[in-house]
Amino acid sequence: MTTGRNSDRARTAADTSSAGGERIVQAERDYPYTQADFKLAREMIRERAGVSLADGKQHMVYNRLSKRVRTLGLSSISSYLLMLRNSPVHPEWDDFTSALTTHLTAFYREPHHFAQMGAALAEMGNAPVRIWCAAASTGEEPYTIAMTVVEAYGRYDPPVEIIATDIDTRALAHAAQGIYSLERIAKLPEQRIKQFFQRGIGTRHGYARVRPALRELVHFMPCNLLDQRWPIAGHFDFIFCRNVLIYFDRDDQYRLTARLVNQLKPDGILFLGHSENPQGSGLVLDTVGKTAYQRSRSNRAP
Ligand SMILES: C[S@@+](CC[C@H](N)C(=O)[O-])C[C@H]1O[C@@H](n2cnc3c(N)ncnc32)[C@H](O)[C@@H]1O
Repeated sequence: MTTGRNSDRARTAADTSSAGGERIVQAERDYPYTQADFKLAREMIRERAGVSLADGKQHMVYNRLSKRVRTLGLSSISSYLLMLRNSPVHPEWDDFTSALTTHLTAFYREPHHFAQMGAALAEMGNAPVRIWCAAASTGEEPYTIAMTVVEAYGRYDPPVEIIATDIDTRALAHAAQGIYSLERIAKLPEQRIKQFFQRGIGTRHGYARVRPALRELVHFMPCNLLDQRWPIAGHFDFIFCRNVLIYFDRDDQYRLTARLVNQLKPDGILFLGHSENPQGSGLVLDTVGKTAYQRSRSNRAP
């Protein structure tokens, strides 16, 4: 057990010999942490989630994994990584993935996409609509989609299916609960807060929960976008895959974009994050809004 942090503190301030490529990362730390540990962690999250961590992420990796090492009562980052390496179905893999992925998100993030979808929905009458939110994180994005849908149809039983997926089952559990601190919803207009959230009282003071009628519109399920097969069938009118491609290397970005485009209905729209674009992927797409793409008209079946 590693408990007394100061007594157990591994003093690694000096670089050891770099012979054999093994340099100890310079810092005063609770647990030993070497360059080899960082490389292994990087390889493992790359294999697991496709996430490419830059060299500069050494400290982030230590900070996040050391919390897991402490929780599990292990003695080093390397023992933690080897435990996982030796056990491909260990439940700790979910925590490892959650620890090394970034979940930054917000309600109405990059709001132009919701405005665009809302306007398109208003034209679609009662035709069945399918929406996939492919990196849903802790739920703010799919609930924003659901609010947009309810506002567009003026009711809670629209002909719309919303599927929200993410690789991170911890984030998805949070999303399915739909509980957020009041700061997370502070920028929403009061009318939306009243309509779509219940403010907590007593021990839940400071939090709000998405109302059940809105929660029920979103179906959450795990999905690793880089898996060969997705647990998602059929085609979609709108796919939101925002602010996740940036964590993948270029080839994976292009392959994934092509697969997402294949999953669109002929007039379907793919929304990407503000710094993501499919240029260079070889795909023939029309730009139909800010980082919003459609299969090119010239490239659709007649
Ligand atoms: C920065 S968040 C973006 C959240 C939201 N789309 C937004 O734009 O606000 C990135 C999300 O991608 C998820 N992610 C990372 N790798 C993934 C993969 N291989 N498959 C599916 N989701 C992944 C992470 O778990 C995280 O929730």
